[in-house]
Amino acid sequence: MKPIPFHFPYLSGEEKKTIQKAIKHFGAGRKDSPYLARCEQWLQKFCQVERVLLTTSCTHALELAALLCNIGPGDEVILPSFTFVSTANAFALRGARLCFVDIDPHTMNIDPVRVEAAITPQTKAIVVVHYGGVSCNIAALRQLADRFNIFLIEDAAHCINAYCEEAHLGTFGHLGSFSFHKTKNINSREGGALVVNDPALMDRAAIIRDNGTNREAFFSGKVSHYEWVDIGSNYHMTELSAAFLWPQLKNAKEVTRKLLVHWNAYYEALLPLWEENKIELCAVPPYARHNAHLSFIKCRDLEERTALIAFLKDRGIDAFFHYIPLHNTPAGKRYGYFAGSDQHTTFESERLLRLPLYYELKKSQRKRVVKVLYEFYRPQR
Ligand SMILES: Cc1ncc(COP(=O)(O)O)c(C=O)c1O
Repeated sequence: MKPIPFHFPYLSGEEKKTIQKAIKHFGAGRKDSPYLARCEQWLQKFCQVERVLLTTSCTHALELAALLCNIGPGDEVILPSFTFVSTANAFALRGARLCFVDIDPHTMNIDPVRVEAAITPQTKAIVVVHYGGVSCNIAALRQLADRFNIFLIEDAAHCINAYCEEAHLGTFGHLGSFSFHKTKNINSREGGALVVNDPALMDRAAIIRDNGTNREAFFSGKVSHYEWVDIGSNYHMTELSAAFLWPQLKNAKEVTRKLLVHWNAYYEALLPLWEENKIELCAVPPYARHNAHLSFIKCRDLEERTALIAFLKDRGIDAFFHYIPLHNTPAGKRYGYFAGSDQHTTFESERLLRLPLYYELKKSQRKRVVKVLYEFYRPQR
């Protein structure tokens, strides 16, 4: 039987055409970047926000966010330990001390009660992750940020077309970031975006993305020349990446629809195993409208997960775990500390296993994954 890969990047089939168009545009000597402009406008409308800046990656969007919030030595930044390194690096790079807090085991998202307990006079920002596009309790976190007058930054890397109630994730914090890495639902191979929700940060965000220059003001005729006005870097997405991204964005809803079919089918098929207490599944909170970015099960413990990965692999199925908690890593220990007790982060991450889920996954493949999971959990005697 043909192996079932863990992931396969989405392609709309239109990318070649749009890339060729972009190249023709350069060939005609044109200096503007129509695909970049189109993608940014599309995202602004789709997310109902005033300003979205496309960036080289979500990592760079987070770095831009750290610069915008003037994070520096002496500041503390609260974040989950169960996340990708970029969430932490962006702030460690600026010299901040990282304060890792525990998660809600049902969603793997940061726990607002633990966040509140971890706030100190040094806390400058809370950075949250909506794991798998499932909203964290963002309303409670926004209230906390407002009450303590600190920045709220959403690492919404997984969240294109994912919502809390009716509002798009990434639009609740002062700043939000998306990833268009090839592992995400919608991709430009590498790419990202920064959502700037705080009007006070909008002009400076464009300046920082543009090497600290006021080039955008120059191009829109607001100043006679552009010059170095602030610190910054080159965080721009290229026009070619935007040409790749454009047809994908236009298909975002269709991609989510198909992924949700797989996600829901996995969930329904595996529910009996949860009811028998053999596995656990994600308990999606009622306010979360997720985008089926990933599907996971929780095994009993690390030992069982290791055995299950090997069992699946033997039957041609790739399944992977996710995120070694950052506070347990050498850099995590150097740049941060865990506030309160690690009641859930290490244990839950050690038993989490992601199942194959992507646009090209076939119903027959999904059914095979489920069948093999049943063979593991209900072996024939
Ligand atoms: C939660 C989270 N944040 C940030 C990133 C980094 O995204 P990028 O690869 O676009 O830099 C990832 C990547 O997978 C991620 O999972």
